[in-house]
Amino acid sequence: MDPSGESGTAMITFVGTANPGFAPYAMEELRRRIRGTKVSGLAPGETFTFTTGEDDPHEAVKELLRDEPIFLRHMFPIETERQATDSLDSTANELQEYARTLADQVNGRKVAIQVRKEQNSPFPYTSAEGRDCIIPVIQDLGGETVARDADWIISIYATKKLLYMGCSAPRDNLSDWPGGAVRFRKDEGLISRAAFKLLEAERVFNIPLDKFSNALDLGAAPGGWTSVLLERGLKVTAVDTAEMDPSLERHPMLRHMRSNTADVSFPPGSFDLLVCDMSWDPYRTCRLVSNLAPALTAGGSGIITLKLMYRKPFQSIQDLMEDYSEFFDIRKVKQLFHNREEVTMWVKRK
Ligand SMILES: C[S@@+](CC[C@H](N)C(=O)[O-])C[C@H]1O[C@@H](n2cnc3c(N)ncnc32)[C@H](O)[C@@H]1O
Repeated sequence: MDPSGESGTAMITFVGTANPGFAPYAMEELRRRIRGTKVSGLAPGETFTFTTGEDDPHEAVKELLRDEPIFLRHMFPIETERQATDSLDSTANELQEYARTLADQVNGRKVAIQVRKEQNSPFPYTSAEGRDCIIPVIQDLGGETVARDADWIISIYATKKLLYMGCSAPRDNLSDWPGGAVRFRKDEGLISRAAFKLLEAERVFNIPLDKFSNALDLGAAPGGWTSVLLERGLKVTAVDTAEMDPSLERHPMLRHMRSNTADVSFPPGSFDLLVCDMSWDPYRTCRLVSNLAPALTAGGSGIITLKLMYRKPFQSIQDLMEDYSEFFDIRKVKQLFHNREEVTMWVKRK
């Protein structure tokens, strides 16, 4: 990923991915962050290419990793691009030829291969078949192919016209999942899909939930987040005007307060974790959460979804961050794969 230019600062072009409909915001964010970056849409609303622009490419990447963009979910550097075709043989040849250029990188290392294609791409293989084309080459080169915990990720992305290929370290991709699409095993007993949001936040923000002991869950019904917290061994106070799933009602570690969040109060320092997924106006939610901030111990964490119900998401997020920062240190704001019209914020009580 180091195409050398005259001054050693040749641009790198990446494939970027955002949640469906949010690519325009991811592109806008990159335009604001990287001087002179050029962005160009691929799959509408979801994937696009962007360049490191006028900035030193390595500095630009470092800066993106240091302070992760909110809407860019995944990126990988394009090292090679080829015409996409529907020919099985020539596609396999292109994939294998590219893989052979990685001899120095992959020898003795663990390598994941992630293949994605757009719906209208002629690329003739499924993701698994595309991987199968590359695996023998990696093994020949002395690499071990793995699904997770790789040293390198080979990314293939096929559009209607082109086949983009690149190899990078997992953390340089922002996510080690293909396109940043974090998948959890579907649990039969799952109370709500919302549970995935909390599981993803735990992983992406690297905040193991089991290190907390006493949680306040605002807007908790039907109880997806609550059930995750209970499974991790926490005591949970769940606040919601709606009913919790019957499977939770008798849980010995759960107290359900069937109330509006505006009407509850707690002694100072009652909780070391506050989570909030209330479906309400984000500014009013911020006021309610801020009123309850003293109930959280100093340094306690908060995981809060910010609903993007207004037309200008950047402005809303910025205003909300400002409002929340009266009582909280904002650690990270990120649109997670499982977020829909919202982003997730991790804060710590000041
Ligand atoms: C998206 S659902 C929460 C899903 C939950 N995190 C889960 O995992 O099952 C939003 C919830 O916020 C609750 N809610 C909205 N406004 C509220 C308020 N002012 N006080 C308490 N609950 C509220 C709604 O009743 C609804 O159950």
